[in-house]
Amino acid sequence: MNYTCLVPLFTLLFALFVSGSLKALNPYRHSWELLLQEPSSGPYTREDAAAVQELWLTQNLDHFEAGDNRTWQMRYFRNAKYHKPQGPMYIFLGGEWTITPGLLSTGLTHDMAVENAGILFYTEHRYYGQSWPFENNNLTVKNLKYLNLHQALADVAHFIRYQKSQSANLTHSKVILIGGSYSGSMAAWMTHLYPELVAAVWASSAPLLAKADFYEYMHRVENSLTLSYGSNCTRRLERGFEHLVNLFNENKASDLLRRLNACPNYNASDSLDRISFFSGINNYFAWITQSYSTQATQSPC
Ligand SMILES: *[C@@H]1O[C@H](CO)[C@@H](O)[C@H](O)[C@H]1NC(C)=O
Ligand SMILES: *[C@@H]1O[C@H](CO)[C@@H](O)[C@H](O)[C@H]1NC(C)=O
Ligand SMILES: *[C@@H]1O[C@H](CO)[C@@H](O)[C@H](O)[C@H]1NC(C)=O
Ligand SMILES: *[C@@H]1O[C@H](CO)[C@@H](O)[C@H](O)[C@H]1NC(C)=O
Ligand SMILES: *[C@@H]1O[C@H](CO)[C@@H](O)[C@H](O)[C@H]1NC(C)=O
Repeated sequence: MNYTCLVPLFTLLFALFVSGSLKALNPYRHSWELLLQEPSSGPYTREDAAAVQELWLTQNLDHFEAGDNRTWQMRYFRNAKYHKPQGPMYIFLGGEWTITPGLLSTGLTHDMAVENAGILFYTEHRYYGQSWPFENNNLTVKNLKYLNLHQALADVAHFIRYQKSQSANLTHSKVILIGGSYSGSMAAWMTHLYPELVAAVWASSAPLLAKADFYEYMHRVENSLTLSYGSNCTRRLERGFEHLVNLFNENKASDLLRRLNACPNYNASDSLDRISFFSGINNYFAWITQSYSTQATQSPC
């Protein structure tokens, strides 16, 4: 299995937790891309976003190895339109997605900043969007060593300290972190590891138990599909999945895999390759339940 086949699997561990609404389904996208999108802010105009600045901050590649002086550029957004000196800092934490100005232009976090004369920030997670620790976002196994929670939280800690040190208007600002899904987990863990830096966090749909075979998630997906489309629909899907499992178990999946344009070195007997296949299919159904858009009202059956 080469690394391009591994990427979906790797990202799925996070992607399966993504909450909130997602953009329109494009059947030509990789299934894992569907769930690698930010929680939707809701509609906003160019005018709404006019106050949002795109900025960059130098971060250490390895926050815990003093001898390693390699750095990279983290992208972030800032909206200071509503800020009064020492007003709160609302920081929306980026997760496994590319950040866009929407969450600082409209929606709940934005409205809280308006109400409380706060300043808004949105950090992009290392290795995602344009925040690449390595040139060309070169995702070799060796380079992926620095994609982990402790490094990502240290990025956020440095970000907070940096902003406070840069502006006298922020010195006494209380910091409120907001995150959803994996980034909600980050917000929760920040209170544990850096309690001195944060006054409050909002951790929405934030799993704290890391579980590899997180089948409960698909139970929720199944329940949602049943509620929306009836139990005949979920029974039909169940039969479809049973059929697929049988094809794999009986070594009859080669025709199917050819038609789905599987990687040439895809190995139907390899358990990780199998997980990748079934997680990929699952994602289409997960996406339907996580999306509030009108496109999703069409039955998947
Ligand atoms: C980083 O460390 C190496 C080895 O100690 C040194 O040669 C290099 O000049 C340092 N680079 C910077 C930017 O400080
Ligand atoms: C990625 O990094 C590897 C070494 O880790 C290097 O051999 C390869 O040329 C790099 N690829 C690109 C596209 O930069
Ligand atoms: C601090 O706030 C004052 C008043 O709003 C503003 O004039 C000034 O530019 C701000 N300073 C910085 C560094 O943002
Ligand atoms: C569900 O399937 C059963 C058995 O095929 C059928 O009798 C019933 O009419 C279906 N219900 C709906 C709502 O389509
Ligand atoms: C496919 O995976 C199985 C199980 O891990 C392994 O025994 C077999 O050698 C693999 N085949 C190829 C062509 O890599």
